[in-house]
Amino acid sequence: MTTNHWSKTSYRHKTALQQPNWPDPAHYEHIVQTLSKLPPLVFAGEIRELKSQLAEAAQGRAFLLQGGDCSEEFARCTAPNIRETLKVMLQMAVILTYAGNKPVVKVGRIAGQYAKPRSSDTETVNGLVLPSYRGDMANDIEATEEARRPNPDRLLQGYHMSAATMNLLRAFTRGGFGSLHRVQAWNQEFVKQSPMGRNYERMAKRISDAIKFMQTIGIPTDTPQLKETQFFTSHEALFLGYEEAMTREDSTEAGGWYDCSGHMLWIGDRTRQPDGAHVEFLRGVRNPLGMKVGPKYEVDTILSIIEILNPENEPGRMTLITRFGARQIDKYLPPLLRAIKRAGLNVLLTCDPMHANTFSAESGRKTRNFDDILSELQCFFELNWAEGTIPGGVHFELTGDNVTECIGGGRHLAPEDLNLRYLTTCDPRLNAEQSLEMAFQIAEMIRS
Ligand code: PEP
Ligand code: CO
Repeated sequence: MTTNHWSKTSYRHKTALQQPNWPDPAHYEHIVQTLSKLPPLVFAGEIRELKSQLAEAAQGRAFLLQGGDCSEEFARCTAPNIRETLKVMLQMAVILTYAGNKPVVKVGRIAGQYAKPRSSDTETVNGLVLPSYRGDMANDIEATEEARRPNPDRLLQGYHMSAATMNLLRAFTRGGFGSLHRVQAWNQEFVKQSPMGRNYERMAKRISDAIKFMQTIGIPTDTPQLKETQFFTSHEALFLGYEEAMTREDSTEAGGWYDCSGHMLWIGDRTRQPDGAHVEFLRGVRNPLGMKVGPKYEVDTILSIIEILNPENEPGRMTLITRFGARQIDKYLPPLLRAIKRAGLNVLLTCDPMHANTFSAESGRKTRNFDDILSELQCFFELNWAEGTIPGGVHFELTGDNVTECIGGGRHLAPEDLNLRYLTTCDPRLNAEQSLEMAFQIAEMIRS
């Protein structure tokens, strides 16, 4: 299977699924070379910090909140969009921390989530057979032969968009926007008018009062714990040429190779073959790794991938992101939990309640029902408790925008409402209000 020698190009000898068919190999190589000379987007020290926080979550001493777009888009790389996504994640984190009594590790699907796996290489639009849209880093969603032709210049553009996003995230999280002093100001107008917004408002007021009380009795509130926040980035490590180019050797004495395209990388449900190129590439970088696990998994395969990716059983290195669906989780999760427990593996167990709860509404729009999402999460917690394992985090597709992509929730979005503001180019996301509502529900689960 794997030989021991690893280099950032050793994956090239293995089969890589889900890669765009780059039409001009010389052009592609040129772009990968160009990217490999550009500055890293994130740094080894930050990656190690995230890993140690994930190790805490695996022990039940913290909780992972991972979320963002299914697929980021170049055209939506704007300050308001980035700010709204960050804001809803910060609000959810405050809810989980305050109501759930646990520090929350915040990881966005952001600043690099531009590559998508697809079930088929081609799709038929209005009778035209076209290459599938594989994310903005590969091609354009527009349904023409020209737009769908993979173009490696897009890898470079994706790098620059990620850098711009990262820059704003750093400014927002260090420059006061992410300060707990602003916890009330984060409540957006449209959310404020809703029952969920009012719940949040009440909680935010209690936090602000507590901060004021501290100030009154002379406890310093000018501290980084209150004034700054940590926000990490993640994406699916799918296009291996891009990931290879962003992989650098740590220049401090700690050493080792880090994929500096994002803090945490995950391997998708479709690309996690033990002898495949994605596993080969990821085993050699020291980032914390996620692995999606859907209903088609085999226990022995999962165990052998974990053994390849984390031979030292290092805490914080591996996060399992299970996605079985509300109706199937009770069948698929317990055997996995038992096997992990029996093997004594240090793994952070998290739930993606989105990807196996997708269906098409009558209009043909892909959607998900708020109640299915909630129900998969509830089962995830209960099944972990029953097995004596730790439910350590959640993984969402969400946006701070007022979209209508998932049905249900406090406002009872109906299938007919999907057309109002359906913006995603890929999977349906929770909107800001649905996200907050979800966070209040999860806080209840964490507390019990
Ligand atoms: C995703 O997270 O958008 C995704 C494609 O997930 P999965 O690999 O679980 O299908
Ligand atoms: Co998705």
